[in-house]
Order: sequence, then structure tokens, then C-alpha cells
Amino acid sequence: MCYSIPGKVIDINNGAITLEYFDEKRKARNDFYELALGDYVYAQGGFVIQQIPTEEAQEILKTWKDFFYKLQEVDLALTQEPKSLYQLANNSRRKYLGNSCCVHGIIEFSNYCHNDCLYCGLRASNMSLSRYRMAAEEIIQTAEQAAGEFGFKALVLQSGEDLFFDEGKLLEIVRQIMEKAPALLILSFGERSLEIYQKLFEAGARGVLLRFETSNSGLYEKMRPRHQLEERLKLLKDLKTMGYLIMTGFLIGLPGQSEDDLLNDIHLAASLEPEMFSFGPFISHPETPLKNAPRPSLDQALTAIARTRLLYPNARILATTALETLDKEKALRAGLMAGANSLMINLTPKKYRSLYEIYPKKANPEDNTQETIKKVLTLLQELGRAPTDLGLN
Ligand code: 5AD
Ligand code: SF4
Repeated sequence: MCYSIPGKVIDINNGAITLEYFDEKRKARNDFYELALGDYVYAQGGFVIQQIPTEEAQEILKTWKDFFYKLQEVDLALTQEPKSLYQLANNSRRKYLGNSCCVHGIIEFSNYCHNDCLYCGLRASNMSLSRYRMAAEEIIQTAEQAAGEFGFKALVLQSGEDLFFDEGKLLEIVRQIMEKAPALLILSFGERSLEIYQKLFEAGARGVLLRFETSNSGLYEKMRPRHQLEERLKLLKDLKTMGYLIMTGFLIGLPGQSEDDLLNDIHLAASLEPEMFSFGPFISHPETPLKNAPRPSLDQALTAIARTRLLYPNARILATTALETLDKEKALRAGLMAGANSLMINLTPKKYRSLYEIYPKKANPEDNTQETIKKVLTLLQELGRAPTDLGLN
């Protein structure tokens, strides 16, 4: 986002390039640009998403230089002498991945869903929810504003499984966004055919956010009627083979989930070699069959982050909005201090935001986007996190 630093191209090996951010090096993939050594680019999620004229990049870097090293110092000071599990995890995050932190924007463009997952407020059987679909132009405009005005470099397009958005509509949206607002475009609208995903890849989409929800196949089938875990895992693997960056994970605290399941969830996520882990607490919704299930504690959610970090030190781990919901004041900071190094800001137009009710009382639905961005940037600066790309493993 606006909080981003250009990287200098210092090595090119076909589509694999190395970028330098001051004295740090990161790998990235370049699918879209003709680049030469010494060029400057913005990368996100290990992907080159925009080339920047050299003079402009050098100007930006000048304003960043001192601040960049100051952020490193702050991060270092905050990770000294780790004692608790969370501190150990945070220390490991710094050692392996430095102080980089990705900030993605998310646009929730439709709350229709033909599925009936027991845990989700968007489930088709929830008749009390007012449903909305954003028009294609509105989605594109929102993405343009996100990339242009707010400077987001990675955008997630999310919805329920809504077949109203067919191949033609999705392709048009992806093509236009890539033309008007180049960004790392991450698709998060559930299970679609490989053919559609292939065409969307060709249109420029490069990421898929799709959770497997639980590694326990019996629990999966109970929670997602008419669906099987195997199908979901196959889709995730096929999408990875297709070239998509994969963001995946699970729900923490589903009724019937055991401690062992949770550890298996972490291992299963890792076995899919995701570019980003996305897992968060299950928060029961009053209009679902799981309405009486208790929320997991903040500690349970933070423990999952810390364990993942310690087990897989190179992981990119998202601090999710569901995590923030557990404690509006503290949870995001706590997640970043327990090993997470990525977060999302909701860019859905305000009039729809409260209707995207996967779970009730999402974090700060009342905030406007600019204020949320300001708050997040202040937090990142307090924690010494820099907007350099995390790069590829
Ligand atoms: N609480 C937290 N997360 C939820 N999701 C669905 N329902 C809930 C809930 N009640 C998550 C699922 C899904 C993502 C879009 O939202 O993990 O993959
Ligand atoms: Fe639909 Fe996804 Fe909710 Fe399941 S979790 S009901 S697929 S929006």
C-alpha cells in the first residue's frame, strides 16, 4: 500500500529475479514486465506488480532510508531476550524474515452463497441476511481507488460461492482491474472449475485464498455438507501447479476439533507449501446451527500463530480480521507480536460491509478506510515493521 518501498532489481534469471531493499535481498517472480538490472519495481507476495521510473523510485527511497533503519532497530529492540512462546515466535519471525510486513486490501463483492457450511453466516439457509452483489463497475472502481488513491499493491476479491459471477463476468472484472489498477490480484470465491481458474490466471490473477478449513476429513464433511476435504485439497494443489500463489489455512475452535486436529491443521497447511498461511478463530453466528458454540480464546488463536511460526519459520502468516474480532484493541498487535507478518484491511464499500456477515461483529465495521489505514500504519511503525515485500522462499 502507500506504505511500500520500491525494490531494485539486482539479479535476473528468466522470470526469477532478486530485489534489494536497502541492504536486504528478496526473491520475486516477474511475469508481466521487461526488466533490466538496476530497474525499480514494487513487489507483493513475491510478485513484481509494478515498474517505477528510476528517478521516482530513488526519490521515494531517499525519504525511506533513515526511517527504514529506525524500524529495524525498533523491531530488534522488541524481540530481545524472548521468554514466552509468543516472544520466541516473534523472535524467530525477525530472524528468518526480518521486519517485512504485507498489507493486503480485501473487497467483499457478494454475500450470496449456494453452500451451507454450518459455521458460516453467509450459508444459503440463512434467510435473515440481506444479500448484495456489487456491480462489476463498482468492484473495478473500488479496486482502482484501492490501488490508486490508497496505494494497495495486493487485493483480495472475496465472495461467497456465487455462480451469478460466471466466467464472463469474472474475466471482465479481472482484466479491467489488471489494466486500470495493476496489483497482485488474489481470488477468494471458492470452488470453481480449473478451466475458469486457468482463464483468470491468463487474465492476470496470481493468487488464490482458499482455506481447507480443517484437516479432519470427518469434521470437514460434517461442517460442509455435500463436500469432501479431498476435493478441496486437490483443487489447492492443482491451482498451485497452475502457478497461483496459494493462501490457505483453517478455523481454530470448530466444535469437534481436537488439539491433535489443530496440530494436523498446521502441518497440512504447510504441506501445501502456501505462500501465506491464513487461519483464524471460529466465531459463532446466531443464524447458524453452531450458534451456541463458544469462541476460542485469544490465547488459543495466538498459540496457533506462534506454533506455526516456530514449526515453519519461513511462513508468511496473516493476522486475520476474525482474530481482531476477539479483541478489537489488542488482538492485531498481539498477533503480530506472536509471529504473524501480514494483515488485511477491509476495502468493501461501507454500505455493504456489515452485510458480509460471515461471523457477527467484525472488527471496526464503523471505521472509514482512511482511518483504518492510518491506525494500521501507526501500529506497524510502533512495532518496527517495514513494507518491504516478504519475497518468495
Ligand atoms: N468464524 C470465523 N471464520 C469463518 N469463516 C466462515 N465462517 C466463519 C466463522 N463463523 C471463514 C472460513 C472461510 C472464510 C471465507 O471465512 O474459513 O474460508
Ligand atoms: Fe459459503 Fe464460504 Fe460461507 Fe461456506 S464458508 S457458506 S462456501 S461463504
